[in-house]
Amino acid sequence: MRIILLGPPGSGKGTQGGLIEKKYGFPRISTGDLFRRAVKKRTPLGKKVESVMNRGELVSDDIVIEVVRERIEMRDCKKGYVLDGFPRNIAQVHALKKIKPEQSEMILDIVLDDEAVIERLSARRVCSACGKPYNLLLGNSKEKDECDLCKGKLVSREDDRPDIIKERLRVYHEETEPLVDFYQREGIYHEVDGNGPVSQVFESISGILDKQLKQVSEITEALS
Ligand code: AP5
Repeated sequence: MRIILLGPPGSGKGTQGGLIEKKYGFPRISTGDLFRRAVKKRTPLGKKVESVMNRGELVSDDIVIEVVRERIEMRDCKKGYVLDGFPRNIAQVHALKKIKPEQSEMILDIVLDDEAVIERLSARRVCSACGKPYNLLLGNSKEKDECDLCKGKLVSREDDRPDIIKERLRVYHEETEPLVDFYQREGIYHEVDGNGPVSQVFESISGILDKQLKQVSEITEALS
């Protein structure tokens, strides 16, 4: 089973993907995190994607698809995984369908309006040393500008500048939002309200996932 997290930037895909991984044991594959790690390490991949990411644009399909294919083929993805940030356009949807086509898919679309996205992302901070994420609105750091864990400096993500957030939203509405219609027609689409506390959003997600996993195990049992 592959669980695909859809939703605009800042809707909580990473946060909820982490909670799914913790509760259900499906590894979370975040294309954004994979790229950011490559940028930090100054690898050839990082050098290729850095400026595109900093402009809030999409990395080219051939690069993203290859990164995802390699990751999905790893052993820990055998029983399932959570895709956070992929696919992001129709070409990526079709490419994904060709990777392990026997795996069933379900979509969890975390819905949040642009105003709430801008508010959340403007308040996001990450530790410049260890990468631990914080959000000023959630008040989850003891100090406003210092990491609780390693005392590193808290900074905004390069692409969380107001003009870049706007560009990321534009790209989302133009390229990624049409996937909603596509997946709805496939009958594998589930909408999740991204407003409200993290725990409340996760409760909605767990409800959908529990039901889906029960169905899958009933079908597997009936076939065996
Ligand atoms: P990526 O890292 O995927 O960025 P994104 O989709 O813009 O998502 P974010 O990480 O900003 O937000 P999120 O939805 O994960 O929310 P989060 O949980 O962090 O991609 C970055 C870039 O990489 C792209 O722009 C592109 O260049 C490139 N890229 C990646 N994938 C690609 C692809 N497939 N194709 C081409 N290019 C690709 O939460 C956000 C904040 O809100 C946090 O501070 C969090 O603490 C807070 N928060 C979360 N939930 C709540 C809540 N319920 N209430 C209050 N605050 C909350």
